[in-house]
Amino acid sequence: MFEPAYPLRTERLLLRPLTREDAVPMLGYKSDAESVRYVPYGPLTLAEIEERIATRWAGTRFEKEGDGICLGIEERETGRLVGDVVLMWRSENDREGEVGYILDPAFSGRGYATEAVAALLDLGFDGWGLHRIIARVDERNTASAGVVERLGFRREARLVESSWFKGEWTTLLIFAQLEGERRRLRDRP
Ligand SMILES: CC(C)(COP(=O)(O)OP(=O)(O)OC[C@H]1O[C@@H](n2cnc3c(N)ncnc32)[C@H](O)[C@@H]1OP(=O)(O)O)[C@@H](O)C(=O)NCCC(=O)NCCS
Repeated sequence: MFEPAYPLRTERLLLRPLTREDAVPMLGYKSDAESVRYVPYGPLTLAEIEERIATRWAGTRFEKEGDGICLGIEERETGRLVGDVVLMWRSENDREGEVGYILDPAFSGRGYATEAVAALLDLGFDGWGLHRIIARVDERNTASAGVVERLGFRREARLVESSWFKGEWTTLLIFAQLEGERRRLRDRP
């Protein structure tokens, strides 16, 4: 079992379990059709967000393959919720994880998503011993690709119209990083 000590701290952010109080600030971006266009839910209502915070977004530890660690991104300076992230444990045998991330658009363009996902990589690789972490990105979602590219992920595949998603065929880009690659990138002078 893997249960990290929360909050995780980065230079400007705290990553911590979600609470009921997060539902209202989350509504700002999870009810916005543009913000949720490429994520596998929504737009969501306040009641749907509250229900998810209490159930599928309540995960904060890994016990078995398929578990997700869902964390709110809090701006340290203001205490405001600015987005949320997830690290999924995809495969025990392959020691594989997957990251997901979303920001309130009012807080984009500051590097917060990149900073938060970097903390998830440390958690997954150093904390839980994952071998490979992936991100699946709709190829139209250039802002999302930018996050993992800034972190040194390799683009491994372009799966043409591989996913029937929100009423249309979607081309997915698969990005990945290996534990050794992460180590080399971090140790770079
Ligand atoms: C994907 C998403 C999180 C990216 O947000 P973002 O603000 O572009 O990403 P970051 O927070 O890492 O910020 C990076 C931007 O801030 C700039 N920036 C400013 N200060 C920075 C810093 N200290 N460090 C890094 N980047 C910084 C970067 O140059 C970059 O801007 P650019 O895209 O104009 O080059 C956001 O678009 C989003 O929430 N989308 C909707 C949900 C979604 O699609 N999620 C992904 C599903 S796969």
